[in-house]
Amino acid sequence: MTQADQPRGASATASKDRVKIFDTTLRDGEQSPGATMTHDEKLEIASMLDEMGVDIIEAGFPIASDGDFAAVSEIAKNARQAIICGLARANLKDIDRCWEAVRHAARPRIHTFIGTSPLHRAIPNLTRDEMADRIHETVTHARNLCEDVQWSPMDATRTEWDYLARVVEIAIKAGATTINIPDTVGYTAPVESADLIRRLIAEVPGAADVTFATHCHNDLGMATANSLAAVEGGARQIECTINGLGERAGNTALEEVVMALKVRGDILPYETGVDSRKIMAISRRVSAVSGFPVQFNKAIVGKNAFAHESGIHQDGMLKNPENFEIMRPVDVGLTETSLVMGKHSGRAALRSKLKDLGYDLADNQLQDVFVRFKALADRKKEVMDDDLIALVQAEERAA
Ligand code: KIV
Ligand code: ZN
Repeated sequence: MTQADQPRGASATASKDRVKIFDTTLRDGEQSPGATMTHDEKLEIASMLDEMGVDIIEAGFPIASDGDFAAVSEIAKNARQAIICGLARANLKDIDRCWEAVRHAARPRIHTFIGTSPLHRAIPNLTRDEMADRIHETVTHARNLCEDVQWSPMDATRTEWDYLARVVEIAIKAGATTINIPDTVGYTAPVESADLIRRLIAEVPGAADVTFATHCHNDLGMATANSLAAVEGGARQIECTINGLGERAGNTALEEVVMALKVRGDILPYETGVDSRKIMAISRRVSAVSGFPVQFNKAIVGKNAFAHESGIHQDGMLKNPENFEIMRPVDVGLTETSLVMGKHSGRAALRSKLKDLGYDLADNQLQDVFVRFKALADRKKEVMDDDLIALVQAEERAA
């Protein structure tokens, strides 16, 4: 199918704010039960992320194992453009180990976190004041090691407003350069997600001097919507993973936020540095190495995301792809839309498909093949190219 030169969707705006893409496939993504990747696979994925223009790669959790430490160190040494980040809990030993691993990067980052909601404060059994002191101590320590420090109040969206504002202020004063607001259990909703970031930026002293990030989980299927809403509230870093890989229902999917910003630039005037044409390749590779198949109807990267079977849609696509596609397949790294031949397909799609296969049939021949095709399609879910060729050959023999 020939593609128009202009991207589909109304995305042209004069000036757009830059939103950083922070990919955590190798850390939060790998925490999905069963998604463990080998050292070499992690290096390969990190290099693909770097190549496609991701701003920050969270390469792992260095204290978690010697293997994680080795992978983060190696990724840090090899990185070409991206900031390489490691995760550390709120203790000095974790932070030192994290620094040991990321320090090899041209642009290292330490990301330290602690659970601040009432439920999460009960885990280490700390009072509000004790936790506030711990945050001050650990962020100060991280900042003494590294210029670039990210701090996260885990379960921020279930933390009391006054306490959240207080600890964010403490982290900023202690030297954090990015404040990440995690929706750890996928509990928030878009309007709340936007308001929370907007209010933090407006009310916390020092907030204007740091970058706010959004980190959403997908338990209610709202991770992408919540991330985009947070951007509207003022966040300028989106944390995400390829294919939405992540614990439970996963994290915000990188491909979804990148394409949403690209396609709907008219109402979401923000841009990323990601080359979206590299999306399909990395999606397939992450699926292969993690062992997590991508659901057929997954937005952007699912097998059916650019496939059409019904006659009305196929006919519409053949007349003008914009009838049923808001993005060009080429913009996500696919060569073309696929017209799947099945029982819902019509004559126009059959004619076009046969033409691609080298058969330009007269109307009466096409009609005969169409009848045979429909009979076959009733028995088979999908009629493949070889089946169509066999149908044409049978028609030729019968003529
Ligand atoms: O979901 C979460 O809260 C996290 C933090 C470690 C940032 O992944
Ligand atoms: Zn997370």
